[in-house]
Order: sequence, then C-alpha cells, then structure tokens
Amino acid sequence: MIVKEVLLFLLISGVPKVHSANYDRDRDCPAKGVSHPCSCTPVAIDCINRAIVGIPPAFTKTNWVFEKVDLSQNLLTRIPARAFQYVNVSKIILSNNNISSIEPDAFQPLQDQIKVLDLRNNKLTFLPEVLGKLHSLNVLDVSYNPIQYMNFTDNVMRELGDFINEFHFGDDNLKGWPESIHHLQMLRILKFYGGSNEMDRIPITAFKGFEWTLEKLWMQNTQLIAVPIALQDLKSTNELHFDNNVHVGDAGILIPAFAGLTDKLEVMSLENNSLTTFPSVLLTLRQLHNLSLARNNLQFVSDQAVSVVGSNLTTVNLQACGLDRIPGALSKLEGIIDLDFSNNKITTIEKNDLQRMVNLQRLDMSENPLQYISRSTFYDLKRLQNLTLQETELYLVPYAITNIPTLKTLDLTSSDTYIECNCDLNWLYCYTTHNNTGLTIIGDCETIQMGIDRYARTRIPSVCPKIC
Ligand SMILES: *[C@@H]1O[C@H](CO)[C@@H](O)[C@H](O)[C@H]1NC(C)=O
Ligand SMILES: *[C@@H]1O[C@H](CO)[C@@H](O)[C@H](O)[C@H]1NC(C)=O
Ligand SMILES: *[C@@H]1O[C@H](CO)[C@@H](O)[C@H](O)[C@H]1NC(C)=O
Ligand SMILES: *[C@@H]1O[C@H](CO)[C@@H](O)[C@H](O)[C@H]1NC(C)=O
Ligand SMILES: *[C@@H]1O[C@H](CO)[C@@H](O)[C@H](O)[C@H]1NC(C)=O
Ligand SMILES: *[C@@H]1O[C@H](CO)[C@@H](O)[C@H](O)[C@H]1NC(C)=O
Ligand SMILES: *[C@@H]1O[C@H](CO)[C@@H](O)[C@H](O)[C@H]1NC(C)=O
Ligand SMILES: *[C@@H]1O[C@H](CO)[C@@H](O)[C@H](O)[C@H]1NC(C)=O
Repeated sequence: MIVKEVLLFLLISGVPKVHSANYDRDRDCPAKGVSHPCSCTPVAIDCINRAIVGIPPAFTKTNWVFEKVDLSQNLLTRIPARAFQYVNVSKIILSNNNISSIEPDAFQPLQDQIKVLDLRNNKLTFLPEVLGKLHSLNVLDVSYNPIQYMNFTDNVMRELGDFINEFHFGDDNLKGWPESIHHLQMLRILKFYGGSNEMDRIPITAFKGFEWTLEKLWMQNTQLIAVPIALQDLKSTNELHFDNNVHVGDAGILIPAFAGLTDKLEVMSLENNSLTTFPSVLLTLRQLHNLSLARNNLQFVSDQAVSVVGSNLTTVNLQACGLDRIPGALSKLEGIIDLDFSNNKITTIEKNDLQRMVNLQRLDMSENPLQYISRSTFYDLKRLQNLTLQETELYLVPYAITNIPTLKTLDLTSSDTYIECNCDLNWLYCYTTHNNTGLTIIGDCETIQMGIDRYARTRIPSVCPKIC
C-alpha cells in the first residue's frame, strides 16, 4: 500500500521533472512562432476560441509533458491522422467544434495514454472506430452530437466497455436509448441529455450491464414524463441529478423507481421538473443529505408537504421556487447546515421564521425583495457563520444579527439599494468592537462612498456621539 502510494506520488509529481525542472515557455511550448493560434501554461496547451478552421494547427515537438490540449470553441471539422503527434498530453478537449470525422490514426502516438476525450457539441453521426482503441480512456463525452441510437456501434461500445468509467451522451434529436450501452460494464458516472419528443420514456432495462457499478447519474433536459422505472435496477447509485425535465411534474416522481436506492441516495437534485410540492418519495430516502428542488414552482407548498422530508438533510437548495415566505415546517429539519433560499419572493423574515435551526451554518437569502427583518428573529441560529443577503431591498443593517454571536460574514452587497450609513449605526460599532469582533460586513453605504464595515469601525467612533 505504502509502496504503491510512493510510486503514485513519483509518477504524478515526478513526470514533468524527467526532462527539466522548470518550465520554459520558449523551449517547452509546442505552439511555436508568433502566428501560432495557441499558447501554453505549464499544464495546458490553450487553443480555446481562436477561430481555428478545419483541422487542428501543427505543433512542434518538445519534451514537456502537459496535462491537456484544449481546442474547444473553434471551427474544426476533422481530426486527421497523427494530429497530436508532437504534444504529450492525457486529456484532449475538442468540445464545441464542428467535427464530423476522426481518422483511425488521429490520436497516434497518444492512443495508450489518453484518459479524457471531450467531443461534446460536435457533428459526429456515429462513434468513430478509433475510440475503441484508446485503452487508457476513462472519460468519454460525446453528448450533443447527432449520433442516432443505432449508431452507438456495438463493437466500439464493447471495446469502450473494457476501459471507460464515465460516459456522456444524448442530444435533442436522439430517438431512442442505445442498446449497446449495456457494454459499459465498469461505468461509474453516466450523463444523459436531451432526447427527442419520441423519447418520453426509456426502456426498463436501460441501465443493465452497469447496475452494480453506477455511482452517479445525470438525466437532464429530457422529454421524459417520469423518473425512469429502470432506476430500480441500480444498486450503488448515491447521486442522482434529474433536472430540467419539464414534463415530469408531481405525478412523475414515481416512488417505485427509487425502491432500490432508499439506503443509497445521498445527493439528489430534482430541479426544474415542474413540481409544485415536496415529493413524498423523500420520506423513503434515508441517507439523503443534500437535496435541491431549485426552479420548481413551490409557491403554494404546505407545511404538511415539508413534513414528508426525511430528517437527515444537511443541505437544502430552494432557489427560485416562487416562495413568498419561509415555510414554517422547515424548522422540523433541525439538521440543516446549508440553506439556499435565494431568488424567491420573500419580503420579510418574521420572529418565528427559522426557529430551531440550530445547526444552520450558511443561509443564503439573496435576490429576494426583502424589506424587513424582525429584531427578534435568528435566536435559534446557534451556529450560523455566513448570512448572505445580496441584492435585497434592505436599507438598514438588520439588528437581528446581534442574536447570532457566531456570525462571521454578513453580505449585504447590492447593485441598487445601498445601506443607510449614519449615527444610527452606533449599535453596529459597539457590537463589532465589543461583542463580535470577528464579524465582517460586505456591502456599501448609500449616503457616503464607503464600505459598511469601514464606516462602522472607523467613521462612527470619529463623528458620532459615543454610546457604548
Ligand atoms: C509522454 O511522457 C511520458 C513521461 O515522460 C512518457 O512516458 C510517454 O511515453 C510520453 N508519451 C509520448 C507519446 O511521447
Ligand atoms: C459545420 O459543418 C456542417 C457540415 O457538417 C456545415 O454545413 C456547417 O456550415 C458547418 N458550420 C460551421 C460553423 O462551420
Ligand atoms: C450511421 O452511421 C453511418 C456510418 O457508419 C452513416 O452513414 C449513417 O448516416 C449514420 N446514420 C444516421 C441516422 O446518422
Ligand atoms: C427548465 O428547463 C427547460 C428545458 O430544459 C429550459 O428550457 C428552461 O429554461 C428551464 N427553466 C428554468 C427556470 O431553468
Ligand atoms: C437517518 O439516518 C440513519 C442512519 O444513517 C437512519 O437509520 C435513519 O432512518 C435516517 N432517518 C430518516 C428519517 O430517514
Ligand atoms: C450538494 O449537491 C450539489 C449538487 O447538487 C453540489 O453542488 C453541492 O456542492 C453539494 N453541497 C454539499 C454541502 O455537499
Ligand atoms: C463564508 O464566509 C467565509 C468568510 O468568513 C468565506 O471565506 C466563505 O467563502 C463563506 N462561505 C460561503 C459558502 O459563502
Ligand atoms: C455586548 O456586550 C456587552 C458587554 O459585554 C453586553 O452588555 C451587551 O448586552 C452585548 N450586546 C449584545 C447585542 O449582545
């Protein structure tokens, strides 16, 4: 074990030093000549967004070992043989081009050392044979290419199955689930995007082949009308991101689909799925600690609905859910550490809001039309460290922060409503110099060109009558 770690350490840290200890741009960057479109850092050959047309630019041989060559956001259409023969990298980024053909020898002599190949958003219509020859490949992204389901060619997928553990695929014209995906028998991470409106469901056997290995699953921007029942085959999945599937709705969060994951799922996002309430499946997910329901319309969510949520949650994201008040029943979730309420319609924080949330450390209420915060709220927030109130309509520093002795950062940054700074802020001077000296306030004064923090600490003692 120790020997292995030492070897690994030598391998990782020692590699660039094989040739020379220090990177020298003139000597080591393979993008030679003033007109070469690319530039280098010691880790990457950077050709991002350089209007490179047709084929990748020629490189000059150097001995430096880079981590990656990034040719994203250009106008490449084909990758010819030995396009990268003079660069030594393990990641090749070709996303956001117009690539429709890749020659069989395109990646020689790097064929056995490429670990990551990103071909997202190109014009491939089938999986090129060469992909099956990249024996060190871990991560392959072919999402947003017009590859039809029958063109995830069986023999290429079978070869890929021997080495890749992360696969991204799918685009808006995909008409069916590629059956050959069963060959990816070591898959740990799968990201599926899009699908045409003919794909409102996927086969019940969709995840067969990697049902024991898959740990993290993304299904986003789809036309699905429900969480796929195929999910019930998965045995090891601890993270599910099922987002932007606007045809799903409350009825589409099928409880049986989650039956195998009740003691597995730890992180789940169900963002922008046209939900109107907290799905009752939450009550069955005993290990869930990080939940996002962002961008659903939970405007009329009842306290009853919140009570279906399991009590082991520590991170809850309710961004942009149309909420006009803080749901009272959230107080039942005493374990919450991170709570994101940003981008809602909350105008006030009342005395009884946020009661019993004794573990809360970070609260984000940014981008709410917040005008009033009761002086006698926040009493139970015994561990709160960060209170973020960016872009609200507050013009007073909320006095209720004196109820939070643990507070470290109060962020009142706003682009149009600034805080009124005058001698009424005497309490803040007293509080930050005597009671909570570790508190930092971020944001600007309306009345004087100065930060609130500086105003309270230096201006008040010099211009206002002393009251502490
Ligand atoms: C890249 O560099 C490594 C470490 O020096 C070396 O083992 C490998 O053979 C090089 N690859 C190529 C294609 O030159
Ligand atoms: C991308 O390639 C297609 C053919 O595959 C071509 O019709 C189109 O004009 C190209 N787009 C750009 C921006 O080069
Ligand atoms: C599938 O791939 C073949 C090449 O292997 C290509 O000729 C055909 O057009 C592709 N089919 C679709 C529907 O894109
Ligand atoms: C929700 O997802 C749809 C479809 O992917 C997208 O068009 C829309 O912009 C998203 N809405 C929000 C609020 O993110
Ligand atoms: C919380 O987690 C524990 C074990 O980690 C589990 O026994 C318990 O059932 C969970 N509680 C809920 C309400 O899911
Ligand atoms: C919770 O999950 C989201 C992804 O949905 C991730 O970005 C975030 O970092 C996680 N937060 C914690 C505290 O684990
Ligand atoms: C919390 O505040 C600290 C400074 O006190 C800051 O470094 C950190 O980034 C903040 N964390 C979040 C999640 O806002
Ligand atoms: C600040 O500390 C002083 C002296 O220890 C104490 O009298 C006062 O109540 C404290 N103020 C707040 C708001 O905690």
